[in-house]
Amino acid sequence: MAPKTIAIINMKGGVGKTTLTWNLAQHLFSNHDKKVLIIDLDPQANATVLGLSEEEFKEHKQNKKTIADLFINCYRKYGPFPKPKSGTIVDYKDYIFRREVSIDKQAYLDLVPSELDLSAVLKGAYIDPFMLENVLGLPYFNKYEYILIDCAPTNSILTTLSLNAAKKILVPVMADTFAVYGVELMQEVLRQHKEDFNVEVGIIGLVFMRWEEKKANQQEFKEKIVAAWGGTTFRNSIRNNDWYKIANGRRTDISQSAAHDEVKREFTAFTREFIEKTE
Ligand SMILES: Nc1ncnc2c1ncn2[C@@H]1O[C@H](COP(=O)(O)OP(=O)(O)OP(=O)(O)O)[C@@H](O)[C@H]1O
Ligand SMILES: [Mg+2]
Repeated sequence: MAPKTIAIINMKGGVGKTTLTWNLAQHLFSNHDKKVLIIDLDPQANATVLGLSEEEFKEHKQNKKTIADLFINCYRKYGPFPKPKSGTIVDYKDYIFRREVSIDKQAYLDLVPSELDLSAVLKGAYIDPFMLENVLGLPYFNKYEYILIDCAPTNSILTTLSLNAAKKILVPVMADTFAVYGVELMQEVLRQHKEDFNVEVGIIGLVFMRWEEKKANQQEFKEKIVAAWGGTTFRNSIRNNDWYKIANGRRTDISQSAAHDEVKREFTAFTREFIEKTE
């Protein structure tokens, strides 16, 4: 069966896209024995920093490749860089870093790392807008059940590539003043994408990140955002909790932290809802 390829996206920065991608991938792997691939499609490479230690990244770079190599060396048609040799053979396993594996459960968590060089695609290198879709459509990727694309917070060719490849999006938002504009921006991006490529992107839903139940105006903002969005919203929100930051710093997920059980249960419940909504 083809993998469920999902872009975690919001034009707004710092809303928790990477934290959500990372924790979700870990939960799908650990609690649900899924075969998961994270694609870091952000030149900031935050998901890569979570997935690989400095030594692991250095080692990966010696023998293997990053998403930047995939775009820049193999598929660029023209641009300010030399063209690749024709007939370049791409071995997709060269891009994959295996973060976790459970042999008895036949599950794994893999990652395609990113690096700052990916920003070359934002500086004018021409990339076929369907290139990532074509790559992920290859039989090699059929072994994954979920492919999660961690997106950068701007509208660029990277957004186009991920929307064409993913066809479905998960939109983390924070309940604040900017989020209403953020979701309107997101809708505009989806509208333009449909106009440009005739691709209708499916929406899994909005998920409220860094939710603070007791904070003034949270509920009010939520209602405004949900109304502006007009689509599905997850029942489960992810609260604001420092253990997410600490877990990120330790390159683990919330379930492996010392957070209260109710914090952990909340993410478990979100993951179940995610599976429900994607099945
Ligand atoms: N639920 C949470 N509770 C507390 N802190 C959080 C939570 N989720 C994310 N954070 C913190 O918020 C900051 C931004 O999170 P993150 O990097 O995941 O956002 P992002 O949307 O991926 O950012 P960018 O747009 O730069 O890619 C980080 O410091 C992260 O540790
Ligand atoms: Mg991020």
